[in-house]
Amino acid sequence: MNPAGESESRGEAVTLYDAVGGEPTFRKLVDEFYAGIATDPLLRPMYPEDLGPAADRMRLFLMQYWGGPNTYSAQRGHPRLRMRHAPFRIGGAERDAWLRHMRRAVDSLDLPAATATELWNYLERAAYFMVNAMEDPAVSG
Ligand code: HEM
Repeated sequence: MNPAGESESRGEAVTLYDAVGGEPTFRKLVDEFYAGIATDPLLRPMYPEDLGPAADRMRLFLMQYWGGPNTYSAQRGHPRLRMRHAPFRIGGAERDAWLRHMRRAVDSLDLPAATATELWNYLERAAYFMVNAMEDPAVSG
C-alpha cells in the first residue's frame, strides 16, 4: 500500500487467493468441508481412514488454482482431477452431498458476496464435471 492506501501493483490483478486472505482462509474452507465429509454416510467410505493428508491435497490444489503457490503440482504433478476421481463412483447423489458440505464451508468464510459467488460458481461447475456414473438408463448403451 502507498500512503493513499492504494495498491502499488499498477494494474496487476489481485488473485482471489490474496483477496480472501491466502492460506489461512483455504485452510478454514477445507477444514470445514472435511468436518462435513467426516460424518457423511455416503461420502465418508470413499475417503481414506486418515482424512488429514486428503485435506492437505485439497487445500493445496485450491490454493494453486486460485493463484497461490504451486505446491500442489510440485508434490502431485498435473491435477488431472477427472482421472484422479475415476476410482470413485460419483453420481448425482455423491455430487450433491459433496456440494452441500462445500456450500457450508464457503458460507463459514463470510466472504464479500461477489468473491463467494466466484468461488462457489467454480466449485459447483467442477463438481458437475467430476460426475462419472450415469443414473439415467436411457442414456447408457
Ligand atoms: C463431485 C463429488 C466429489 C467426490 C465424491 C470426490 C471425492 C474424492 C475422493 C474420495 C478423493 C480421494 C481423497 C484423497 O485421498 O485425496 C478425492 C480427491 C481429490 N478431490 Fe475430489 N471429489 C469430488 C469433487 C471434487 C471437486 C469438484 C474438486 C475440485 C474442485 C475435487 C478435488 C479433489 C482433489 C484436489 C483431490 C486430491 C487429488 C490428488 O492429488 O490425489 N474433488 N475426491
